Amino acid sequence: MAGALALRQNMQVADKAVARPVLDANTLLPFVDALPIPAVARPNGTKPVPFHPSVHVPFYRLAMREFESKVHRDLKPTRMWGFGGSSPGPTFETRSGQGLLVEWANELPRSHFLPIDHGIHGAEANLPEVRAVIHLHGGKVPPESDGYPENWFAPGKSATYFYPNEQDAAMLWYHDHTLGINRLNVYAGLLGVFLIRDPVEDALNLPRGRYEIPLVLCDRMFDKDGQLCYPVSGNPRGPWVSEFAGNATLVNGKLFPYLDVEPRKYRFRVLNGSNSRFLDLTLSNGQEFCQIGSDQGLLAAPVPLKDLQLAPAERADLVVDFAGHAGEQIVLRNNPFQIMQFRVSKTSAAETGSLPATLRPVARIEESAAIQKRQLALVEVDDLVGRPVQMLLNNARWRDPVTEKPILNSTEVWELINTSDDSHPIHLHLVRFQVLDRRNFERFAFQSRGELRFTGPVTPPDPNEMGWKDTVRADAGMVTRIIVRFEGYTGRYVWHCHILEHEDNEMMRPFDVLPK
Ligand code: C2O
Ligand code: CU
Ligand code: CU
Repeated sequence: MAGALALRQNMQVADKAVARPVLDANTLLPFVDALPIPAVARPNGTKPVPFHPSVHVPFYRLAMREFESKVHRDLKPTRMWGFGGSSPGPTFETRSGQGLLVEWANELPRSHFLPIDHGIHGAEANLPEVRAVIHLHGGKVPPESDGYPENWFAPGKSATYFYPNEQDAAMLWYHDHTLGINRLNVYAGLLGVFLIRDPVEDALNLPRGRYEIPLVLCDRMFDKDGQLCYPVSGNPRGPWVSEFAGNATLVNGKLFPYLDVEPRKYRFRVLNGSNSRFLDLTLSNGQEFCQIGSDQGLLAAPVPLKDLQLAPAERADLVVDFAGHAGEQIVLRNNPFQIMQFRVSKTSAAETGSLPATLRPVARIEESAAIQKRQLALVEVDDLVGRPVQMLLNNARWRDPVTEKPILNSTEVWELINTSDDSHPIHLHLVRFQVLDRRNFERFAFQSRGELRFTGPVTPPDPNEMGWKDTVRADAGMVTRIIVRFEGYTGRYVWHCHILEHEDNEMMRPFDVLPK
């Protein structure tokens, strides 16, 4: 190991790669563009379901293309990749139990416009430069439709996936998942929203129609010509950087947009679509809002908040009540930065949406239901001067033999033992889970002797983490425990850190769900 690291170290080149001058986003005039709302995806007819040819479901074809988009009034059009000419792509609207088929078509150009690191596993120079494969994040999906990172396809090719949607109402999202270049493809814009609805949600009479709005937040960096910049390490033979933090945040594809709202309740479906950035969202007037749902659907009851933490890939379903704020201008901030502005009108149409005191029962899974407990270390591998070169799950790499093999319909506790100095949002495909607790531990005892010695009290999950999740913050120096029932399908899936820079550089592992 030390030898390999030393080798990597010798490859470091002292002088920095020349980067284009970066635009200081704070020089842009804020709140001059209206918030775009992604179009709702429209099916192109129906097609038979695989293995059940008598059942027809809606069929969609979404083409990934390069296009130009005005991200701000005063910037030149930005080159992006998206679906059918938009990023975020069109929003899927479907109902629980209503399956659908999507043909994901790669109509992208043959060369990438962002810096590929060919030294990363899965991004070797002999592969086509542009490749894509789409995953439905949060979807309970058969393995062949899950967007396995190695199942990428080149321009001119496509893949048709079946989404059964046999799961509760929730905000899912679709995004690229290509091994080794996922961070670049998502950064280029390959992501979109996928909403599942059900009768429980319908019965709550939450704000809907034009009072329900998705907010897809992605931090980015632009050059003075308004083009996307992605940083490089300075080593031309290893341009990978261990994380990305942009100085500008796209909201549904615009910088600093505004939204005209009425003094009444709104439902915002918020997604942190950033590569690495953890969001800390507040409203400039200090007003309270309610979180009513998390990654996998509704919480048992609304959780009042003034400050929302959202790790990459996490979702929050929010109800914000602008009643009592008629005529105000309220800024949504990711502290300390401005993100977007709400302009509250003086009057409102009659209020129709409500915010019930209870939403959907969430039965806690008993820890005693678990038949297996796995200790899984989150490890950052540094070079000799402390620069991260790789991130690992349990010291294994992508290509190592599969070690996590849960049995279908069994329950397991996964202890995510974070030995690093960073919080890692850990995501499991296929399943939903509950957060049990977090606890500080002594890193040295663990790293040197594999001994788990706790140094702090058991911390329960935050109130807004008490629902069903598919992504969880594994905080630095803590053991984060989740409880998972492996339901749905047998086959090969993946689990990984959702910091895309980490995921691309080995912080992702396959797991197999085995038949009983
Ligand atoms: Cu959001 Cu494996 O993905
Ligand atoms: Cu996923
Ligand atoms: Cu990570």
